[in-house]
Amino acid sequence: MGDPPLADLDTPRFTQRLRLEPVRPAKALDLWRVHQDDKVWPWYSGARPSLEQVRASAAFMGDSWRLHGVHKWIAYDRGSGEVVGRGGLSRTPVDDDWGQIYAFLPDEPWVRAAHGAHRPFTAHANWVEIGWALRREFWGRGYASEIGRAGLAFAFDTLGMRAVVSCTVRHNVRSRSVMERIGMRYAGEIRSRGMVEGAAGEQDDAPFAVCVRLRGDGAPPPAPTP
Ligand SMILES: CC(C)(COP(=O)(O)OP(=O)(O)OC[C@H]1O[C@@H](n2cnc3c(N)ncnc32)[C@H](O)[C@@H]1OP(=O)(O)O)[C@@H](O)C(=O)NCCC(=O)NCCS
Repeated sequence: MGDPPLADLDTPRFTQRLRLEPVRPAKALDLWRVHQDDKVWPWYSGARPSLEQVRASAAFMGDSWRLHGVHKWIAYDRGSGEVVGRGGLSRTPVDDDWGQIYAFLPDEPWVRAAHGAHRPFTAHANWVEIGWALRREFWGRGYASEIGRAGLAFAFDTLGMRAVVSCTVRHNVRSRSVMERIGMRYAGEIRSRGMVEGAAGEQDDAPFAVCVRLRGDGAPPPAPTP
């Protein structure tokens, strides 16, 4: 018998303009539509991902939703149903890479505590990462910030998280702007595998900017009125 799912995968969440659905195997093609976009994949790897690679990611995200209760959403336009992007939360592995983040969080036991389910990986229990990626035609309309605000609300109000962090390569100005727009505070830099400005392909020691929002950090900035 399988483990009881920690999340209801079939009930979407809604924002003003978007329908957010947990990524799972049935969403692989929609996830691929985001990640094969020529303005998206270069931020994640040195090559456009194949559909098979994205299918594997979608399966992993589905497992994370079931066993860890959270991972990324696919975002659809509520009116047209078009795939706008993907984003939201994911738990972070307990490993040396993510351990660099401890320096930016309170020196308290909850920071290092691990989630009880060790599949699909051993994850931090009390803080999550937030991110976003939009198909190019949907940039510049506030959709990433809308996904980001929904993610923060889900993290703090539904999952009871103590902190949300966000990381992006130093030169990803647009992603850093989203972090600031939704009320995350710049905390410093870590080094990890990723893209470096001006270099081809992934590098081992790319600088990543880290932003943090702690539970109780005060009211986030309001969304602009249309
Ligand atoms: C990072 C990324 C998601 C940011 O997208 P974005 O469209 O710039 O961000 P938002 O959706 O929040 O939109 C903000 C812009 O829309 C404008 N806007 C219009 N209506 C808005 C609204 N209702 N609310 C907020 N902003 C609005 C803002 O003024 C801002 O304009 P600007 O770009 O001229 O400053 C996008 O560039 C992307 O997908 N990049 C590739 C993938 C990637 O890098 N992901 C992050 C990896 S860590």
